[in-house]
Amino acid sequence: MDQQTPPPAPTADTLAFDRLMTARHSCRAFRPDPLPRATIEAILTIAQKTASWNNTQPWQVTIASGAARDAFRDLMVSQAIGSAGAKPDADFPFPREYRGVALDRRRACGFQLYDAVGVARGDKVAYARQALRNFQLFDAPHVAIITTEEPLGVYGAVDCGAYVSNFMTAATSLGVATIAQAALAVHSKAIRTHFGMGEDRRVVCGISFGLADVAHPVNAYRTARAGLDEVVTWVE
Ligand SMILES: Cc1cc2nc3c(=O)[nH]c(=O)nc-3n(C[C@H](O)[C@H](O)[C@H](O)COP(=O)(O)O)c2cc1C
Repeated sequence: MDQQTPPPAPTADTLAFDRLMTARHSCRAFRPDPLPRATIEAILTIAQKTASWNNTQPWQVTIASGAARDAFRDLMVSQAIGSAGAKPDADFPFPREYRGVALDRRRACGFQLYDAVGVARGDKVAYARQALRNFQLFDAPHVAIITTEEPLGVYGAVDCGAYVSNFMTAATSLGVATIAQAALAVHSKAIRTHFGMGEDRRVVCGISFGLADVAHPVNAYRTARAGLDEVVTWVE
């Protein structure tokens, strides 16, 4: 590639897409107001365009709102309290180890979160209280559970990951805040039972969503991204 060539002028689409990608962030405090069904359907309709392996579209989405969301939150909280200290029993194993820059980045975003809510380093009781917010769905009025189909294996999960990302970006375009939640997947079996999902469904993660509580300090920080020099290898 010719390094002297100036970058192409961004199109309106490029700028709009970059704006959405920049604006999206994980929301960890929501307002209680439920979203109109039409807004949720608009998000789902866009996310439905996600590419997938052989167009298998392995994602299934269960959305709990209102009393169903309250019941699910209560289940998640009781599961979280009941299994405190136990190894995660998620359908997809959690990372075995964080090494090098992955460990550094994980620590950095954890400290950003704790600093935002005034949790002191090493305060394990406060860490646990903040972790429990996951299972309270950060007070979001809606939660989507994303599952894939067991026989599709890792690529089904990859496709669902792309779906999750597109769901979150589409939501951003409509002023809807989101957070992907692998924490919920720790209780995959309980989720399957609660919602009567087939035994062949595998829980990838949840997405809590709604309107952001923009005044809440937990929503005030933004995470960083590595530069291209850290992730791209040019071979010419
Ligand atoms: C698949 C997936 C699962 C996640 N699970 C959780 C979770 O369980 N709890 C949480 O607080 N954040 C969760 N996150 C949010 C990440 O921590 C967050 O995306 C990352 O720190 C980057 O910050 P940003 O989303 O604000 O850009 C998850 C993100 C992804 C993509």
